[in-house]
Amino acid sequence: MPNLEAIRSRLAKVGQSHLLNFFAALTPVQQQDLLVQIESLDIEQLPALVDTYVKSKPVFSLPPELGPAPYFPKNEKSPGRSWDRAAMERTGESLIKAGKVAAFVVAGGQGSRLGFEGPKGCYSAGAVTGKSLFQIFAEHFVAAKVRYGATVPWYIMTSPLNHAATVAFFEEHKFFGLSQRDVQFFPQGVMPSLEIATGRVLLAGKGEVATNPDGHGGCVKALSVSGALADMRRRGVEHISYFQVDNPLVRPLDPAFIGLHAAGPGSSAEMSSKMIPKAYPEEKVGVFCSSQGKVEVIEYSDLPMDLQKQRLEDGSLRFIAGSIAIHIMGVEFVERLANDPKFALPYHRAEKKVPCIDPISGAAINPSGNNGVKLEKFVFDALSLCRGSIVFETDRTEEFAPIKNAAGLDSIDTSRSLQTERAARWLEAAGVAVPRKTDGSPDCVLEVSPVTATCAAEMAAAKPTLKIDRGAKVAL
Ligand code: UTP
Repeated sequence: MPNLEAIRSRLAKVGQSHLLNFFAALTPVQQQDLLVQIESLDIEQLPALVDTYVKSKPVFSLPPELGPAPYFPKNEKSPGRSWDRAAMERTGESLIKAGKVAAFVVAGGQGSRLGFEGPKGCYSAGAVTGKSLFQIFAEHFVAAKVRYGATVPWYIMTSPLNHAATVAFFEEHKFFGLSQRDVQFFPQGVMPSLEIATGRVLLAGKGEVATNPDGHGGCVKALSVSGALADMRRRGVEHISYFQVDNPLVRPLDPAFIGLHAAGPGSSAEMSSKMIPKAYPEEKVGVFCSSQGKVEVIEYSDLPMDLQKQRLEDGSLRFIAGSIAIHIMGVEFVERLANDPKFALPYHRAEKKVPCIDPISGAAINPSGNNGVKLEKFVFDALSLCRGSIVFETDRTEEFAPIKNAAGLDSIDTSRSLQTERAARWLEAAGVAVPRKTDGSPDCVLEVSPVTATCAAEMAAAKPTLKIDRGAKVAL
């Protein structure tokens, strides 16, 4: 059992003694749990964090020599920016076939905007079938066995808050047909949630510190300490296809992207990204920029509006490359970062409502406004640590239908429409008639399993022959 007096004295030195206010009233097991939890926090780091992120707010300054990041256009024959798609696809395919590509989903977020009980990956997302997000992703790797004759090991980052429920979901669904030994789960780290008004660590209960997952950037450390990187090494994996849990249209095994990352001109094969052209200047997505030859993502709130509105001669936005949180990371790169004692991604501060208890009376507090500061690391901050990072353009309707909110923008409704729209395009290109309304939108609901196709060319190769009636719901 951690030493109570030692912890009491360390907490007193950093002004966080209230964490033990209810200690005497706890059972021995609860006491032990609380001490272990407190000991796992970086107690001595707290005053500096409070000063930097709670008592003041970090001021963002624009990086020097800021410009838009160059990118590989989706049309490989774009004048002046052509690239060899066929060669990149061959390279990507051969890497998948050789078992050198792993998939990695970050699924440790709290999903508070969606308001769904349970891990977000269990959310029913398929436009017709209602398949869970996890099942949709799994089907890519089931299909890879047939398409490429390859095993794609899949790593799933959870958080201590949703780990057990995530594993139970996979067990209940028999790993969606994947071999259990090719699916690995590991929890990311957590940070204590801090009270905005005082910088005190919030208590979730009398014997529990309020914590939040430490952001998707926490994956660098989590991949290492969990043994996932070592497992990748054992398997001969060299590249990690990174994606978020909320996007059912993601294509984790895209040969062209993998090829560009591994062997594209200017790529160091360390960390690469996909982008979509921003729809309008104010769109709330991070933007790929370049500063002194390094790629970085600048959050929409940090990029001055006059820059966001700048246009090129052809009328397109100058800062056009919106981030959709799809990356490939080199195993060697992640190892290098994780093993570097000086490596640390910066924290980002977010004000949130954090249910907690009053540290004096113990009464439950369900705040109506933001009472807490959460500190998170973002994975894209690792981009500027690459020697050569490339960005690849993709099409919004091909690969981006995130489910973030319960309703409205980026909700299940918008995601279903985008899934249908993409399937309609693929089917029409393959010669199937899709009924459309007068406004041009499909007059049906469509869903394509990744086992059937993960791009238009695979749909065409499947030679679909079906008749779709108006108002029909069709899953292929
Ligand atoms: P979001 O930024 O959408 O955050 O995460 P969230 O926590 O899921 O949702 P809200 O903001 O509470 O509504 C983007 C992706 O990063 C993962 C999420 O699971 C999602 O795939 N993520 C986020 C983590 O894995 N860990 C984190 O600490 C934060």
